Amino acid sequence: MKQATKKIFMILAAAVVVALFAACGNDDAATTGGGAADGAFRVGVSMPTMDLQRWNQDGANLREMLTERGFTVDLQFAANDVPTQVSQLENMIGAGADVLVIAAIDGDALTEVLATAEAQNIPVIAYDRLIMNTSAVTYYATFDNFLVGQMQGEFIRDALDLPNQSGPFYIEFFTGDPGDNNINFFFPGAMSILQPFLDDGTLVSPSGQTDIMAVATLGWSTENAQTRMENLIALNNLVPGGHPLHAVMCSNDSTAQGVTNALLNAGWTAGADFPIITGQDCDIISVRNMIAGTQAMSVFKDTRVLAANVVDMVSAIADGNTVRINNTTDYHNGIRFIPTYLSDPIVATLANYRELLIDGGYYTEAEIYG
Ligand code: GAL
Repeated sequence: MKQATKKIFMILAAAVVVALFAACGNDDAATTGGGAADGAFRVGVSMPTMDLQRWNQDGANLREMLTERGFTVDLQFAANDVPTQVSQLENMIGAGADVLVIAAIDGDALTEVLATAEAQNIPVIAYDRLIMNTSAVTYYATFDNFLVGQMQGEFIRDALDLPNQSGPFYIEFFTGDPGDNNINFFFPGAMSILQPFLDDGTLVSPSGQTDIMAVATLGWSTENAQTRMENLIALNNLVPGGHPLHAVMCSNDSTAQGVTNALLNAGWTAGADFPIITGQDCDIISVRNMIAGTQAMSVFKDTRVLAANVVDMVSAIADGNTVRINNTTDYHNGIRFIPTYLSDPIVATLANYRELLIDGGYYTEAEIYG
């Protein structure tokens, strides 16, 4: 071999050795981090619907993060239809899922299908919404849902300065789908702050509808919330110059948007007199409504954080490591307390949305401002 050729050969050989070494190093890193670098570990991800913005984000985040860790992901959306979610889960189990990650449409409707998962020792992670009345749920990852409600109640309390006023201030209430166990945290969380003011007459509900089932919104749908708000407006002439309305406590953004639409259609205009409307999720439409002055606040639950927590849970399960939890006493699913990892929600208003959502990389300026 000529000297020059020999030199090139040696450089190439060295490069191959370095590359092989690096590849082995990566494998090691992937194995300790995920135990699934070869894609053999299958994760079924069942999301409720593509209709609401957040579940699209949740699904996309989970797929991306799980794939990065080397898992094989089967992501399905169930069009807010329980039988569809059940059959998608059956298919995932049939296809050999090693873990199921589920945001249930109806927390009470999965007992039977999850009995099959349990019989096959497939761990189940309840995502965002607790799955009720089954011993198949292994872990739960969510935000502190009672705190979400408290934040909404506190916002209304402080905006109306309820402790220092005699009122009456007029308020209506909207929560979410009766099948979603989360409303049993959101709504009581808000009421833990507002009920004393209803009791002493500082707050008054013109419709008298303050019971969780009376104020529930099927499917968390914007249209259903809008229709109910239109009925409430008609019932008591809640229009500018008519019966006063100071606040509408909405458990999330999709319901808040329906309420905003109904109020705008009834002649309310953005400004100091626009009723205080609460929300949750920081949906793009609701952020725009905050900027326009037709929604006062939202609660930011960073779906990237929730997805990352769940991906860590899946990795720990795949590796046989201990799963990180921080709550064992609050989330009882009718059978037992489910080991839970809770993340913190954050109040979002006009004052901090830019920092939270745009500087924080959650949305681009173009997504918010168009
Ligand atoms: C809840 C969830 C909220 C909201 C709502 C409607 O379970 O925690 O963030 O999105 O469903 O989808």
